[in-house]
Amino acid sequence: MDNEHIKKIKIFDTTLRDGEQSPGASMNIEEKLNLARQLARLGVDVIEAGFPVASEGDFEAVKAIAQEIKGVEIAGLARANEKDIYRAYSAVKYSEKPVIHTFIATSDLHLKYKLKMSREDLYEKAVGMVRYAKTFIENVEFSAEDASRTDFEFLCKVLEGVIDAGATTVNIPDTVGYATPFEFFNFIKSIKERVKSIENVILSVHCHNDLGLAVANSLSAILAGANQVECTINGIGERAGNAALEEIVMALDVRKDIYNAITNINTNEIYRSSQLLTHITGISVQPNKAIVGKNAFAHEAGIHQDGVLKEKATYEIMTPERVGRQSNDLVLGKHSGKHAFKEKLESLGYLLNDKEIENAFIKFKALSDRKKEIYDEDIDSLIAKSHPFEKYELKYVNVVCGDTVTPLSMVKVMVDGELKHNSSCGNGPVDAAINAIEKIVNSKAKVIGYEVKSIRGTTEAQGDVSITIEENGVSITGRSAHTDIVVASAKAYVNAINKLYIHNSNLKKSVESEIYE
Ligand code: KIV
Ligand code: ZN
Repeated sequence: MDNEHIKKIKIFDTTLRDGEQSPGASMNIEEKLNLARQLARLGVDVIEAGFPVASEGDFEAVKAIAQEIKGVEIAGLARANEKDIYRAYSAVKYSEKPVIHTFIATSDLHLKYKLKMSREDLYEKAVGMVRYAKTFIENVEFSAEDASRTDFEFLCKVLEGVIDAGATTVNIPDTVGYATPFEFFNFIKSIKERVKSIENVILSVHCHNDLGLAVANSLSAILAGANQVECTINGIGERAGNAALEEIVMALDVRKDIYNAITNINTNEIYRSSQLLTHITGISVQPNKAIVGKNAFAHEAGIHQDGVLKEKATYEIMTPERVGRQSNDLVLGKHSGKHAFKEKLESLGYLLNDKEIENAFIKFKALSDRKKEIYDEDIDSLIAKSHPFEKYELKYVNVVCGDTVTPLSMVKVMVDGELKHNSSCGNGPVDAAINAIEKIVNSKAKVIGYEVKSIRGTTEAQGDVSITIEENGVSITGRSAHTDIVVASAKAYVNAINKLYIHNSNLKKSVESEIYE
């Protein structure tokens, strides 16, 4: 590696903003704060915490993250208008390192059909709004939405204008995932060569994955001179998602010889970050997903296993430990005390206060009464489960089922402190339980997805259930784990209904109903 010219790449994490735009990925404030704490441990340079004008909930989440998370830049998204920018400022101003991230589309396609604006008017708006944002905060990022399909000369003019107005970062999004790696390399290189004063600002890229090229395009941009990449954990995001943080970071780490670049990321925290996001959103990664998928380090073929046993490097380009995947499994059980439990929590990266440890320990003891061996994944599911506020709480579920009877359920749910009960039959025990809960919560939401998988072990394993519900085009995933999969399903459904309730309450309080599309 050429140590003299080694480049520092800033990692701008947008899991809480673009990532949250994934269907089913809505998070409440407590979940966002939890994830933000983990992103800080991971070592990202910037956390884009949300889009404050979109809803009261988004505003409060960005504000809470800005207040609590130190040492990391906290960005809030804003369209290029005064109301959005002021709202973003009002939320991020609590941060030690606040950033306003303002954007407007620059391609003719967007100008003509979406914004109905001329290039001249757009130029004035972009420059004017960066100037306006600068009256509040030093660090202002400007994004030229749909940059990769924008007329090159016009894009350069806009970039020069916003740099002149004080933008400290200019971001080049491939908003619709249309670019290809060689083309994107040339595009970024030309921007570097052509735009005046570009060397005085951070040049950032933001790639979407519609053609599966988001990571390749981001890496090409780094080779061409970009010094910031915007990405998400597990690559979640709009449509096919954003560039996956873990893949970019590990490509830079493993292929230092090619990229000659470093990041601030503590790679040991990668797997935990991925797991936490999965637990919060209920969206699992595919088993063969690079770096964080279940099979990413599994050697199945005999020839490979033989090679790895003789010398790991034969088939492993990085160790699982490098990304925080434990090879030593200290399994807890019924007889494990609070001390061992606390140590386990710390080794998994959970920094909880005494009260949180106490609550988690009670849940751990209850689980260890039902299950002999408690794996790391079981503990993750215990921790991720705690929510500060729940309108609905499942108190009881009982289902009679079998091969000769129609499944019949009895459930009790606490609704705002009042215990309600109902019963229903169904197509199976899970369906019967959900139907009875539906009668109590009186929801119009439709169940559109159901997934159950075992958290390691044998028939005594916990079933990890994700249920996705949809109402008015909004889809939300609830999740729960239990050794009884009917109980796990009922709890996952109630979890989804609680999240939907919070989402709807935030929407009602929304200061701006038109959300970024
Ligand atoms: O994809 C995109 O263009 C965006 C911008 C808001 C940066 O997410
Ligand atoms: Zn995006």
